[in-house]
Amino acid sequence: MSLDTREKREGAKAAGVLVRDLPVRVFHWSLVAAVTTALLSGWLGGKTLLWLHVSAGVTVLGLVIFRLIWWFAGGYYARLSTYPLHPEKVKAHLRGLLAGRSRFDGGHNPAGAWMIVAMVSGLGLLSLSGLAALGGLENAGPLRAFVSVGGGEAAGEVHETLAALIAAAIALHLAGVFMETRIFGHPLIAAMTKGRVHAPGVRGESGGPLVLRGAVLAALVAAAMWWANQALAGLPDTRWRPVQPAAAYVDNCADCHFAYHPSLRTAEGWRRIMAGLSSHYGEDASVSEADGKAILSYLAANDANSFSTLAAVRIGRAPAKDERLTETAFWKHRHGHIPKAIFASRAVGAKSNCKACHRDAESGRFNAWNIHVPSTAKEKKS
Ligand code: HEC
Ligand code: HEC
Repeated sequence: MSLDTREKREGAKAAGVLVRDLPVRVFHWSLVAAVTTALLSGWLGGKTLLWLHVSAGVTVLGLVIFRLIWWFAGGYYARLSTYPLHPEKVKAHLRGLLAGRSRFDGGHNPAGAWMIVAMVSGLGLLSLSGLAALGGLENAGPLRAFVSVGGGEAAGEVHETLAALIAAAIALHLAGVFMETRIFGHPLIAAMTKGRVHAPGVRGESGGPLVLRGAVLAALVAAAMWWANQALAGLPDTRWRPVQPAAAYVDNCADCHFAYHPSLRTAEGWRRIMAGLSSHYGEDASVSEADGKAILSYLAANDANSFSTLAAVRIGRAPAKDERLTETAFWKHRHGHIPKAIFASRAVGAKSNCKACHRDAESGRFNAWNIHVPSTAKEKKS
């Protein structure tokens, strides 16, 4: 053996053997950042951080797609076929743990391997259910054309349950890593940061080609997602359309309050309102016969049954005492936490003044990111 190769070998020994390829490590830490952002913005950010939340969630989805393919195209230890998933192996591992034994062979132990499978699939479902909720409830995002309001509500429930389960899985994962490193001294942290470990008899990965393959795959996944989003976002919107308010409606119905969007009541509801204008919530709001006809035909042609937005389905089509939007079960449920003083403030004035907090109330969309409770509403009315 020449001196040269011996030096090289000694050098490799000092650096350790590569057990986590670079793409896996970049994936892992990007996932940590994206999932942390998504969980925090989802739980703490409310509606204001929705776009940060959605961006983080879409990043998670992209990372999950990358990882699913990397299960088959990645390095030796990254491949699903090398995971010790068999129940017998899990049993043996757990029995070993109870006896104070755990072995590090460069790959994942059975509990860790199952945890990866659970988290990757759970995060995939979590981000998909989020996009379904966004599509159904907000009529936005790539799944907009495929999910109804009811489907969006169901997806929202699934989304929240999965988020709690993922948080529990993360806690379990951290506990597992803590135990492996602290109690058994396994170099898991070094493996996921530097990629290399010092462990006798452990097989190493071939680094270079995997880096190139990972970079190409990441670019392909990003391009495919961008293309899919463009294609899906371009589908026609069947649930909302812009409407031009009839002149008679603006003239007669936008003085005392803003012009309510026609999708907030059904044609029958509007007919009842129009029939009782002489005693309209304590006011005389009578209109000429011609205007009455024009207004009703505009309202009926664009009523709650002709829109499938959250507001049209859950407020417009819902029964309400005196046809009051604020008497629908959905409205009360979603606004119950808002203090009475805010509605009574000068900036808002009344519960029925939707426009004070919903910047898109006139369009009938009522999107979550357009909710903005005036900051001056917290000041007392002088
Ligand atoms: C003279 C003033 C006035 C005019 C004109 C008027 N309204 Fe009203 N409207 C009211 C008042 C007052 C309320 C009750 C608001 C409240 O209690 O906060 C109300 C409430 C409503 C509500 C129920 C909102 C809710 O949930 O509380 C609808 C729907 C409505 N008006 C439709 C119309 C239509 C359609 C027209 C035109 C034909 C019209 N209004 C014209 C004064 C008026
Ligand atoms: C004082 C401010 C305020 C007023 C006035 C108000 N809202 Fe809201 N609305 C909110 C807030 C805040 C939320 C978000 C509640 C939550 O956290 O889920 C909301 C949620 C909603 C939602 C669900 C939006 C979504 O995508 O989740 C709809 C629909 C809605 N409001 C309709 C109305 C209508 C119709 C009116 C008028 C009759 C109205 N709101 C009046 C503040 C207001």
